[in-house]
This record gives sequence, structure tokens and C-alpha cells, in this order.
Amino acid sequence: MKLPNYLEAKQRNAEETEYIYDKVEYPKNYFKNKKYFLKTYGCQMNVHDSEIIKGYLEELGFIETNDMNDAYLILLNTCAIRENVHDKVFGFLGRCKHLKQNKDVIIGLCGCMAQEEGVCKEILNKHKYIDIVFGTHNISDLPRMLIEHDNKLNINVFSKEGRVFENYIYKRDSKYTAWVNIMYGCDKFCTYCIVPYTRGKQRSRKHEDILKEINDLIDKNYQEVTLLGQNVNAYGKDSENEISFAELLDLVSQTGIPRIRFVTSHPWDFTDEMINVIARNANIMPYIHLPIQSGSNRILKLMGRRYTKEDYLILFNKIKEKVHNVAITTDIIVGFPNETNDDFKETIDIVNKCQFDGAFTFIYSKREGTPAALIDDKVSQEEKEKRLAQLNLVVNKYSLLNNQKLLNQTVKVLIQGISEKDDTKLYGYTDTMKLVNVKADKKYIGKIIDVKITEVKSFSLDGHIVSPSLIH
Ligand code: 5AD
Ligand code: SF4
Repeated sequence: MKLPNYLEAKQRNAEETEYIYDKVEYPKNYFKNKKYFLKTYGCQMNVHDSEIIKGYLEELGFIETNDMNDAYLILLNTCAIRENVHDKVFGFLGRCKHLKQNKDVIIGLCGCMAQEEGVCKEILNKHKYIDIVFGTHNISDLPRMLIEHDNKLNINVFSKEGRVFENYIYKRDSKYTAWVNIMYGCDKFCTYCIVPYTRGKQRSRKHEDILKEINDLIDKNYQEVTLLGQNVNAYGKDSENEISFAELLDLVSQTGIPRIRFVTSHPWDFTDEMINVIARNANIMPYIHLPIQSGSNRILKLMGRRYTKEDYLILFNKIKEKVHNVAITTDIIVGFPNETNDDFKETIDIVNKCQFDGAFTFIYSKREGTPAALIDDKVSQEEKEKRLAQLNLVVNKYSLLNNQKLLNQTVKVLIQGISEKDDTKLYGYTDTMKLVNVKADKKYIGKIIDVKITEVKSFSLDGHIVSPSLIH
């Protein structure tokens, strides 16, 4: 049993990152034809971690099922960013508990919630029916934990971590677009955020390993890669010998893959060199997710974001000016402890100034163990909800306005599959990351096609294929 420990998780020692290349050995097909049900909460990083988990499980002989009643293994890959997932996860686990009464089931919890001290204590006290718990730093222990499982709760979560695993196997969800981790962890310690504790210290992958992975994806005909990290602009800063994010982007561009994206950018580390690289390479998509979090300098300071509203605006305008047709989206938190109406007005003001293509908006959620959780907050939840609703109206206005600019335009869309809402349509994304539904033949899935936009909504576009100008 190894429990998470925030004191260890907080440490940022100067030790060199250890790179692990040796494959984990375990008996393949040990669970031949047993079924697994995997539910993923949270960000792209978790979605990508689930691709690793699926890789291990399928090598062990497991087959995926969408019906948890049918599964021998039920595994939840969880998110700790906000409290609401916590409630959903324990609600879901409560339902799984009943399944155990009549049949043999293994219940597992992993991901960021497993890294929370409070969550593991709660499991030990109240949820002993859970079988295995592992964290974000030891996904590769999963096969061993399953094979050695003896019907007793096994919590195996590491907090202090300085390793990069190059021995993962993936079962990717898409044959056309791929996530590629370029770094793990985060050293920014924004005061509201749990990620530096759940994901640990910043560790960059070696650029040679990243490029090898991308070249392998190109050989498999992948059309798009998204470079992943909590703070991609800080890539390489944790090692004296590593290249910068701008240099990495340039090298990835030279591989010739048709589309390159990256998330998430922190305004603090966004250099002019990066902007120039994005501007001059046609296969780096003109789409940047640039979280602002708040428009109030007072709140930004309390959040530990290390930029002002004015700094953000200068960067925003520079990107808009230099990168042709760029779309910029953002993240905003309302109701940080003791946010005043004037602070909130500053947030509305920056949204009006930037007119973002889109924004993910959240009510501040208190995360035990972070500095902001110690602030005595006087603002009511009701007031915070009012602010969120008001903000969303403004955000949605600009999403629609930006989408309307595309009406009757022809845009390039990478078709990714059949639309979930309407199976007569395909869906894909523009270079600026706008969702488009298209009436077109299924043979276009995985191709980049020209689409004329015929209808515009706040969150998606409709169009038809401009035949026959197939590019690939
Ligand atoms: N409460 C609300 N939102 C948060 N985020 C991170 N931590 C919190 C929190 N404690 C938001 C930030 C971040 C996004 C991924 O989640 O906006 O950019
Ligand atoms: Fe959290 Fe800030 Fe790191 Fe983003 S940059 S993961 S908000 S600590």
C-alpha cells in the first residue's frame, strides 16, 4: 500500500529526469476474452492516458465493452481539477458496488483523483469494495496490479516523481489524429490549481523521442498530431540540454505531417520566436488555446499567474497580427475567492476586447491542499453562478460572431468520422479547430477536404463538400 502525499508532490528537486525505455514484462493474454469498461473524465491528458491503459489491457487479452454490467474490470480514469467530478465518480462507484454482490468484478480508480490525499483516505474509510487504485505516475504498474490482485484493496500511488516513461504502448482512439505527449507535470503552481500536485514536477520528453513517435504516426498515415502538455510553452526548460518549444515546433513541422496542434499554452512562456514559427509554417494550425483565467490584475496576482491583463492583451494582439486567420480560445474562472463585482467587470472587459473564438468558463472550485483553499471566501455560490451565466452570454456572442465570418466561405476540414447526432453526416475540424458537420460520402473519413460553410451556430458549422477538390 502506498498513499499519496502532498508534501512529496510539492517538492521540486534538481534531480535529473530519469528516462525509462525498458518494456514492462507481463504474461500476454492472461485475462483472455475478459471484458473491461473504462470511463474517462477530464482533459486531453487523461484521454491520452486512457489510450495507454487500453493498450495494456488489450495486451492482457481484455476486450472493451460499453456496458459496465458485462465487465469483469470497471476502471475510472479520473480528474481532480474541480470538485464536481469527485461527486460524479463516487456516485458511479456506488452503483458499481452492487454489481459485486452477484459476480466477480474488479473495480479500479486511477488518474488525478487517485493522487489526492483526501480521496485515498475516503476510499480507505468508506469504499473498501474498490480493488485497485493507482496514480498518474505508475500507469505501467496496472498489469502487475491486476495479475497479483487478491480481492484486497490495493492502493499504489506515488507522489514524488521524476520519471518519463518511453515504454508505453498505446491503443489510439483515432486512426487519423493522435495525441503526443511532449512533457508531463507542471511547475507553475497557480494558487487555485491541483495539477502540480497530481501530475508532479515538469518533465520534458527528449525531442528525439517525440520526433520518432511522430514519424511512426506519419508512416501509419496519421494526418494530425496534437502536442500535449499542461504548459507546452515551457517545454525543455526543465533540462539544460533540451531545445525550446519553438525549436521543437519547427522540427515537428519539418516532418511534413499535414496538421500540427498543441495544448495548453501559458501566456508567461509564449515567446516571439514561437509566434514566428507558427506564422511561417503552414502545417502548424492557426489555433491557439491561451488561458487568461481572469481580467482583473488583482485576481491574476492572487492566482499567481505572473502576467497582467495588459501583458495578455499585448501578447494576444501580437499573435493576431502575425498569425494569419488565427483563432484564439481561452479558459476563464469566475468567483475566485473574494472576487468583487469590479474584478468581474474586468473579466467581461477583456472578453469584449479579445472577442475570443471560444472560452471554457468555470466557477472556482476549492481544491484542498492548494494555497487558494486557505482564503476565507465571502462571495456566495449564487452570486458566482450569476456571474458565470452573464459571462457565458458574452462568450457565446463572440463565438457566434466569429463563426458567422465563415458563412459561405470554403474551408479545409479534416474529416474524423460519422456525426454522433446525425449519422447521415460526417464531422471534422477546420484548421482553426471549429467543428463542422458535412454531408459527404464515408470514403472521405481521414481526409482533408474543402467544405463550403452553409449554416453557422455558436458551437458548430454545417457545410457541404466542394467537389471534387480532394486534396489528399
Ligand atoms: N477551479 C475552477 N477551475 C479551475 N481550473 C483549474 N483549476 C480550477 C479550479 N480550482 C480551470 C482553469 C484551467 C482549466 C483546465 O481548468 O481555467 O485552465
Ligand atoms: Fe494548473 Fe497553472 Fe499549471 Fe495550468 S499552468 S496546470 S492552471 S498550475
